[in-house]
Amino acid sequence: MDLSYETALYLAALIAPAALFSLKYAFRQFTSLGSDKVVVITGASSGIGKECAKEFFKAGCQVILCSRNVDKLEELKNELINMNNCEDRPEPCVIPLDISNEQSIQDAVDSVNRKFPDGIHILINNAGMSYRGNILSTSMDVHKKLMETNYFGHVSLTTRLLPSMIKLPHSCEKYKAHILSINSIQGQISIPHRSAYSASKFACTAFFSCLRSEVARFGINVCSVYPGYVKTSLSLNAMTGDGTNYGKMDATTESGMEPCNIAKQVVSAIRNNQEEVSIATLKLRLVVWLRYLFPSIFFWIMKKRANR
Ligand SMILES: NC(=O)c1ccc[n+]([C@@H]2O[C@H](COP(=O)([O-])OP(=O)(O)OC[C@H]3O[C@@H](n4cnc5c(N)ncnc54)[C@H](OP(=O)(O)O)[C@@H]3O)[C@@H](O)[C@H]2O)c1
Repeated sequence: MDLSYETALYLAALIAPAALFSLKYAFRQFTSLGSDKVVVITGASSGIGKECAKEFFKAGCQVILCSRNVDKLEELKNELINMNNCEDRPEPCVIPLDISNEQSIQDAVDSVNRKFPDGIHILINNAGMSYRGNILSTSMDVHKKLMETNYFGHVSLTTRLLPSMIKLPHSCEKYKAHILSINSIQGQISIPHRSAYSASKFACTAFFSCLRSEVARFGINVCSVYPGYVKTSLSLNAMTGDGTNYGKMDATTESGMEPCNIAKQVVSAIRNNQEEVSIATLKLRLVVWLRYLFPSIFFWIMKKRANR
């Protein structure tokens, strides 16, 4: 084998995957968004959920706004109705929901099914709360509250809404319905003093991965989105180890990404039928790689961090 033949082989080995990927990209199917799409958004009263509501509304969808604070949802509804160039959009619908309460979830699902008997197309599982604390001084009630809000509530709402997605008629699009989970980088790596939050997000990573494979045969796509720090009220609303409110805006959250940018990527993930999306700085993505490629180094850094 002469050198030029070898070089050609190396080049082919490098180019072939890129060419195959481009082909797959060129022939990928899109999901269209419009007034025929009913979108349920949990945690729509604030931060990422609120911005998602604006983006789906602008895209022409019928948005259903869910959270505990109905006054804030009504405010958002009016803001949407008065948005420029959105006069022909379907009127947003407000449904109260406490995702940590089974009865409230059932009531919300009953309302959705009553108002939209033909089924719902997109579920954005976004509602959530964070936590700051030391495992030694964190009560079991706090661990349970975080799991109920960030994990069990999402499992319950998703499984109760699934029948209304399964019954949708197949269209010419690849997927007739989408379930999207707003997870976190902390659903991929766990850092000190975030145990309860990180555990709930890891649980979502596992649940929605299993769900993806189980509901694909019904034409339902499942996508998990893993953002890094986002500039919202998340740390202000976080719970401490004794169950009290943390109430501080962390510097990392304050300097985080704008929630509207996350919302734009959520809409793009639905349009492009994506399954996983990481939205974080290069540094955070490298930390995720470090955890899986060189776990001992990652664990050493986390031990140092825990003692800071
Ligand atoms: N900000 C970040 O740095 C960041 C990073 C990665 C992932 N995330 C994730 O993004 C999601 C949204 O958080 P955010 O950053 O936008 O924070 P946020 O501004 O505090 O919004 C949280 C939303 O969740 C709702 N919520 C909280 N508890 C609820 C409950 N029991 N029942 C129903 N709704 C509830 C809140 O609405 P009500 O109070 O009206 O109920 C609010 O609309 C969360 O899942 C969070 O884990 C955030």
